[in-house]
Amino acid sequence: MRHLMSPLDFSTEELDKLFDLANDIEHNPEKYAHACDGKILATCFYEPSTRTRLSFESAMTRLGGRVIGFSDAASSSASKGESVSDTIRIISCYSDICAMRHPKEGAPMVAAEKSWIPVINAGDGGHQHPTQTLTDLLTIRSIRGKLDNFTIGLCGDLKFGRTVHSLINALVRYSNIRFIFISPEELKVPDYITDMLREKDIPYEEVIRLEDVMPHLDILYMTRVQKERFFNEEDYVRLKDFYILNTVKMALAKKDMLVLHPLPRVNEISVEVDEDPRAAYFRQAQYGVYVRMALILTLLELA
Ligand code: NCD
Repeated sequence: MRHLMSPLDFSTEELDKLFDLANDIEHNPEKYAHACDGKILATCFYEPSTRTRLSFESAMTRLGGRVIGFSDAASSSASKGESVSDTIRIISCYSDICAMRHPKEGAPMVAAEKSWIPVINAGDGGHQHPTQTLTDLLTIRSIRGKLDNFTIGLCGDLKFGRTVHSLINALVRYSNIRFIFISPEELKVPDYITDMLREKDIPYEEVIRLEDVMPHLDILYMTRVQKERFFNEEDYVRLKDFYILNTVKMALAKKDMLVLHPLPRVNEISVEVDEDPRAAYFRQAQYGVYVRMALILTLLELA
């Protein structure tokens, strides 16, 4: 039995197979409409989510399966003091596969150890968000046709943004990727990540001004300032509108640069950019459903 805790749990060859399956689902959805008949997905979300939870629910429903679960810790037995290990043993009796989001880093790993069914980490604190990364990679591969040879700028909250941490971890396995980290001093990417990049000899730069690097980027990955992980409101208010991508800044970019964002967006991308053909964040959300469908099939060994 396999779980998904980090994007590195799959080799790049396995990821290629997963993405081929996701593209086949995209083009031939009817072929998969009953692939999960009789199967149940449990969504255990101890932290708010719209995209990820509904994307999992949509994925399982489109495969013919059914969904049970809870969308906030207060409505689960966690509020009575039940441990994640006990909860997952119960969930294992009720369902065939589980997607879990938790504010504590490592909680889905603890669950996976005690689980009798595959567990998918749907985001653990500021740590990892592997299914968002699968979504990001599938989007780039589907639009660009490849996952190597590009310069990616990651902009915004690089300190607390788990989607950023997961994506960097996954991209270092592809050749000739160059990173440009764009953030205020307070929200720089954690040292363990830059240490890892130096160790692997992967080029990266850290800058503050987005305008300066815009012309060099093949992909711009925008992120929201992670309000819920700040220790005080004052810092959040000071930093929340540090970057706002607008049409003036887009005019500095390459004609085929892709703009990605895991969403939800707050102010960091102005709505006028939505009309730009380079804005790929809504398509990205659609790819999120296909890749979760492919993942469910793979972990249930139905693919
Ligand atoms: C991200 C998350 O939860 O980390 N959202 C998502 O799953 N698409 C990004 C965010 O909340 O900013």
